[in-house]
Amino acid sequence: MAESVTITDNRTGQSIEVPIVEGGVSASEWSKLLPGIWFYDPGFSTTAECESAITYIDGDAGILRYRGYPIEQLAEHSTYLEVAYLLLYGELPTAAQLGPWVDEITRHTYIHENMRKRFLDGFHYDAHPMGMLVSEVAALSTFYPEAKEIFDADLRHKQIVRLIAKMPTLAAAAHRFSVGMPFVYPDNSLTFPENFLSMMWKVAEPSFEAHPVLARAIDVLFILHADHEQNCSTTTMRVVGSAHADPYSACAAAAAALYGPRHGGANEAVLNMLTSIGTIDAVPDFVKSVKEGHGRLQGFGHRVYKNYDPRAKIVRDVAYQVFEVTGKNPLLDIALKLEEVALADEYFVSRKLYPNVDFYSGLIYQAMGFPVAIFPVLFAIPRTAGWLAHWVEMLDNKTKIARPRQLYSGSAERPYVAIGERG
Ligand code: SDX
Repeated sequence: MAESVTITDNRTGQSIEVPIVEGGVSASEWSKLLPGIWFYDPGFSTTAECESAITYIDGDAGILRYRGYPIEQLAEHSTYLEVAYLLLYGELPTAAQLGPWVDEITRHTYIHENMRKRFLDGFHYDAHPMGMLVSEVAALSTFYPEAKEIFDADLRHKQIVRLIAKMPTLAAAAHRFSVGMPFVYPDNSLTFPENFLSMMWKVAEPSFEAHPVLARAIDVLFILHADHEQNCSTTTMRVVGSAHADPYSACAAAAAALYGPRHGGANEAVLNMLTSIGTIDAVPDFVKSVKEGHGRLQGFGHRVYKNYDPRAKIVRDVAYQVFEVTGKNPLLDIALKLEEVALADEYFVSRKLYPNVDFYSGLIYQAMGFPVAIFPVLFAIPRTAGWLAHWVEMLDNKTKIARPRQLYSGSAERPYVAIGERG
């Protein structure tokens, strides 16, 4: 049996055989038979916009691998910076490679004083931290004009290091501004997660001591959120990057996509949902209202996973470790009851709606003291590594500028009407 499909244009009787390669068929082959006929696929539900070697997901089996390594093993044995290296360069770093990589990131955690003193102070007092982060990342492009040299290997590497290194600093700066606390400079004697927690929580103590369980929890959550193939924000990164915009502008666009409640804003929506449910007893009525079409079960469902999101299982295990230190988040019992009721209900089972990565992550962040508004920012920090890995792959594959077609459904030609004669 040939690994191919044959399409016949019934208007002409012409046929064409197109090979099936790595799970896809080439649209350009189809267009040889069907010039001017486009494949209509709003939301790209069945369209592969690229070929990628970075992350593999099997939605039905609930499998997630970064460069072939199972997410469960990376969450148990790796660190976020090691995973960032893996995503970007395709291999786990040797000790001789990891040391310099970590040192380079550590040395680029500072932001320009103008960003700290003038840019941040320009925001309204109650600016949303994610709106601030999107703006901060876009503003970075004005501090590093050499970032436009996207095909200069050394300059490209330097911007990649700067973005990965500065994201926690920008994130913490946005939070500190939101709560009226002074900016905390990076402490280069700390690890990546410890330094982030220091910039978030340090007050008057000489140096911040992160609880090892909480620092490890943040590192594991960063690993889990580092990449997820062609999600909305990563595809945005590739699309904007395909215009040869600088990486800061492309990352700002990706962060803007992640800001949406359907994407990175979901764990904030989960917390708001659990809070509005209020008690375990109110869960059945809430589920009933969702089934009647009143809103969605936030943190449930996924375009790809039609099984349990493998990350959600790991997040739930991390939650129990964190609650040992912080005390249990009272919303956990409501979340567990919601999961129990939904997974036993035909409405959700028939639609293959399972908890995704966002269902439990918010509970951990809230227990650790993070305000709900900063949750999408916590997603953006690690996803920066994934965005950059896809950006590099897109450029190295010499990808053409993204320019899809459309099916036109508007007016036919019609003559201009003077204003006095308009109806
Ligand atoms: C992330 O792409 C990624 O990889 C994203 C991400 C990543 O790492 O980058 O994994 C991170 O964004 C996770 C998803 C976080 N979002 C949420 O939890 C928000 C709630 N989830 C939904 O909005 C929804 O499930 C989406 C957006 C996640 C997926 O939407 P799809 O695939 O387009 O699903 P759909 O809208 O076609 O839904 C299919 C059916 C519909 O019912 P019918 O119209 O067929 O009757 O399922 C229903 C939907 O109404 N449905 C839900 C639901 N999600 C889908 N019903 C109730 N609650 C939900 N959460």
